Parts: sequence; structure tokens; C-alpha cells
Amino acid sequence: MSPALASRTGKLSESLTLSIVAQTAAMQREGIDVAKLSVGEPDFNTPRAIKDAGIEAIESNFTRYTAAAGILDLRQAICDKLESENGLHYTPTQVVVSSGAKHSLANSLMAVVNEGDEVLWPTPGWLSYPEQVLIAGGIPVPYPCHCENDFRIDLDELEALITPKTKAIIVNSPNNPTGAAYTPEETRAFGELLAKHDIWVISDEIYEKLRYDGNQHTSFASVDGLYDKTIVINGVSKAFCMTGWRIGYLAAPQELASTVSRIQSQMTSSVSSISQKAALRALTGDTPEMAEMIQAFHHRRELVVDLLSGIPEITCPVPEGAFYAFPRVDSYLGKSANGKKIEGSLDLCAYLLKEHRVALVPGAAFGAEGHIRISFAASESELTKGIERVKQGLLALK
Ligand SMILES: Cc1ncc(COP(=O)(O)O)c(C=O)c1O
Repeated sequence: MSPALASRTGKLSESLTLSIVAQTAAMQREGIDVAKLSVGEPDFNTPRAIKDAGIEAIESNFTRYTAAAGILDLRQAICDKLESENGLHYTPTQVVVSSGAKHSLANSLMAVVNEGDEVLWPTPGWLSYPEQVLIAGGIPVPYPCHCENDFRIDLDELEALITPKTKAIIVNSPNNPTGAAYTPEETRAFGELLAKHDIWVISDEIYEKLRYDGNQHTSFASVDGLYDKTIVINGVSKAFCMTGWRIGYLAAPQELASTVSRIQSQMTSSVSSISQKAALRALTGDTPEMAEMIQAFHHRRELVVDLLSGIPEITCPVPEGAFYAFPRVDSYLGKSANGKKIEGSLDLCAYLLKEHRVALVPGAAFGAEGHIRISFAASESELTKGIERVKQGLLALK
């Protein structure tokens, strides 16, 4: 018999989407045509110039350890980006480059959360948030963003959840899975409320570049009184189709950044030197492909909204950012397929995959039963085919 594992690991849940992913892969291996609307990363390739920068790093033997927080050129480029695009002033010592925005989030939580501290996270929201809070020893506390309110936050409702035990709040605009993105005024109103409290604001801005509502992204750190309380999390994964290169970063007040740098130096050291050079090229050179990608996502957003409006009894706030739609399908729950009752979004997605060959992510995977997530990281023909299958599947329920 093996010795016992750490008690913190016992609280971690299995990924709710794993069985859908495994089943989709198995069906595809059998040659079954599955419309895959479950993907959480852009379906475009990393731009040529960025790939070349990675190849050049290898060829020039830029293949050794770097400073734990990342190469200075890259951290300076991140500071320049934050200054010119977000109006935020940071110096390179306030920036730490990590293995994706996910790692930057985990590092932030390790740096601020004490055992038993509460951390607020948005629901619907990315399920890594509560799991990372648990790993850090904290207690995840969901705050609701209601579908009937276009997934906006009710500030009074949120404030009632802030207690003396609250140590941090995670904010995410544009949001995965809802696509909700705050206007500058909404960010300001939300930020001003947070500035009144002695809590960290961990602002996940990974989908910043993917907006379709004409609004400029506003970083929480730019709200009056929030710079010293905010950890800005961002990266190149979604904005430059670089999910596999694993480059994310945070920018924060000096003491926090130095602490995260120390944590990272003891846990993982720097991220890949090659990826850092590629990210440097992404942030400092032209990448016309990205404008084309955003345009393509914009078209697909219109298509998805239009196709969903043709399905009876579902509601879907128009996604303003990211590349997901999150329709409410709860009026179909409780119905049956082939005599088997569809109890929740997990059952529904399993049914739609098995019987109608369309892969989606259940709302339960984002703490929001009664919804399904449709990713538009898929071609227009795949989206048309997939959403037609969703429609047929829902209408076939009795
Ligand atoms: C809301 C959100 N934050 C962070 C990440 C992680 O990004 P990265 O690939 O840079 O770790 C994701 C990835 O899906 C995400 O959806």
C-alpha cells in the first residue's frame, strides 16, 4: 500500500469535459464525422514571422536557461504593450513571464492566498479558477453573472459576497464561456467598487484582443485606486494563436511581482527560451494575420447568433468578445431521448455527441447548469453543420 497523498489533492475535481473529449476523439478515430464546436483555442496557425523567430532562436543556440522572470527584452516589450495599449506604466521588474496565463494565475494565487482565505470567481467562469484557489489553500466563492442580464454583474449582489475573509477577486473580461465583455464605463463602475475594499483584483485579460462590439478593452489596473491592488494577467496564446508555445505574463505592484518571480525561480525556473523569442516577435512586429483572424471570428459570431436564433426556446446573449457563445438550453432539460431522461448539461452534451455527432462543452463545466458552450474556433461550414445538428438534437427530445 502506498503512503497517503497530500490532503489538498483530495479536493480537486476531475475535469468535467474529459469524457466528452475522450469520446469525441474515439468517434473521430472510428471515422465518424463529428462537428467539433468544443475547442478552446484559435483554429488558425501561429503567424509565419513568429514561427521564424522561434526557429531563429534555436538556430542561434538561444537554448539555455534565462532569467526566471523572463528575458529583459520580452519584459520590456510587455511594458511597452501595457503602456501603449492599456495606458498602464510598469517597469520590467514588475513583469513575470510564465508558462501561459494559466501559470501566471496560479503563481498569483500562490503569492496572495493564505489557508482559508476566500477568493471570488465569476460564474459562469473558467473552472480552473476555483481549482487553482483550492490548490493554493483558499476557498473559492462564486459570484453570479446572470444570463437574463447579459451576464453582467449586479454590483450590490457582488458586494454582499465580500467578507473580512475575502482576499482576492478574479475578473475576466472578455469572459470564457459567455463572451461577455465590459464596456469602459462598466469596468470603471466595477473597479471603483473593488477599490473600496482591501482585496487583490486578479484580472484575466487573455481574450483582450478578441472583441466585436467596437469597445476598447479597459484594464482594471487603469481604474482610479486599483493599480496597487491589481494583478494584470495576459499572454500571447489567444491573441497570436500561440497556445502551444506556453507564454503568459503578469504585471503587478513591485512586491507582488518580486514574490511571484521568487516562487517561479524555485518551482519551474524560466519558461522556454525559444518561446520567449517568439513571443517577443509577436509583441514587437507586425502580424497582419491577426486582423484577419479577428475579422473571421467576427463573421462567425454573426453566423452563430443568427443560427441560434432559429432554435426554439433557447436564449443567447450576443457574445461581445472571446470566441464562444453560451446559450441557455434549460427548457430542454428534463426531456428524454430514447427513453433516457436528460437531467443536465452533461447528459445533454453526451446525447448530442453520441446521437447527433456534435461536440460541445456542458455549462456545468463552467459552474452554470442549463447552458452549453459553442466555440466558434471552427470554420463557417463546420459551425453551420454543427448548430443544425444541435437544433435537430434538441427538437428530437420528448
Ligand atoms: C479565461 C481563460 N484564462 C486563461 C486561459 C489560459 O491561457 P494560456 O493558454 O495562456 O495558459 C484560458 C484558456 O483557455 C482561458 O479560457
